[in-house]
Amino acid sequence: MKRLLTGLQPSGTLHIGNYFGALKPFADACGEYESFLMLADYHALTTGHLQRNPDKVRQSILDVVRAYLAVGIDPAKAVIFQQSQVQEHTELAWILECLVSVSFLELAHAYKDKVAKGLEANAGLFNYPMLMAADILLYDTDIVPVGPDQRQHVEYAREAAMKFNSAYGATFKEPKELIQNAATIPGTDGKKMSKSYGNTIPLFGTKDEIAKAVMSIITDSSGERPENVYAIHKHFRPEPALGIIYDTNKGNYKALKEVLIEDIEALVAPMRERNAAISDDEVKRVLKEGSGKAREVASAKMTAVRNALGVSLGTVTN
Ligand code: ADP
Ligand code: TRP
Repeated sequence: MKRLLTGLQPSGTLHIGNYFGALKPFADACGEYESFLMLADYHALTTGHLQRNPDKVRQSILDVVRAYLAVGIDPAKAVIFQQSQVQEHTELAWILECLVSVSFLELAHAYKDKVAKGLEANAGLFNYPMLMAADILLYDTDIVPVGPDQRQHVEYAREAAMKFNSAYGATFKEPKELIQNAATIPGTDGKKMSKSYGNTIPLFGTKDEIAKAVMSIITDSSGERPENVYAIHKHFRPEPALGIIYDTNKGNYKALKEVLIEDIEALVAPMRERNAAISDDEVKRVLKEGSGKAREVASAKMTAVRNALGVSLGTVTN
């Protein structure tokens, strides 16, 4: 069985873009592979929204793991673990950082976009792709399901594996990305749905919250079809059927938004109920068990890496 690994940063407020771009692809692919799901809590430190707020970090970690369980991932079938609980990730990241050049990392989107906006990036953000490469390479991962915006980072992991292998001998598998949903879900303003743009439809929101977000979708009154509404809607209902509804309700944006609210509700209501029923203790138990399993795999790989590098002198085994 091939091995699959993916990661999600703890964000606390998951939206339907996260569902289609990350949670669902993982849930769908999970049974076909030996699956690892990592809560990328150290990656979250690079962006600032969780920095200096330990209570929010704790809550966000619990919320994201709970979300994975609520969308149907079975912890007996997938190893669900926390990045910070497996120290080998930061150790390998350092080693990989020493292999790649500054100019290579300068081209990575997360860093480049921040600098392009005139914002100051921390050094963690600069090195982010090598921490992600470590996440992937430690587990001999074959397949990495990610949203389209993460494709470049998987390419970076592949590049890091090749560099290490050619310098020190075959040690890492070269991973492949699996872009399951090439579409980016737009937000209520037509831009990519993102927690940073305040344009989201919450995944576990109440029906009222969903309705409020949908009603706020910006529509362009010049055309017959509200394109921003349609662009979200087509992820909830197959296109030929959707086209008929939009034709029948031409110009009636309110009616179309109401259909969208019902379609979102039909998908999310059962997940929202499961989400509410999963206790913090259950989430903690899942993470503890998963992190233990992940550590076993990661520590065996790091022993091989240290040997390959020449830093193990044979006196200390681990
Ligand atoms: P956000 O943009 O809200 O900060 P993240 O960057 O934390 O979301 O993304 C978490 C995961 O969800 C990633 O795998 C990303 O590809 C996916 N994702 C986020 N927003 C969207 C979207 N609008 N459409 C599709 N996938 C998305
Ligand atoms: N960087 C990814 C994101 O922001 C999360 C992530 C961290 C990840 N490590 C990973 C995804 C390893 C896949 C594999 O969405």
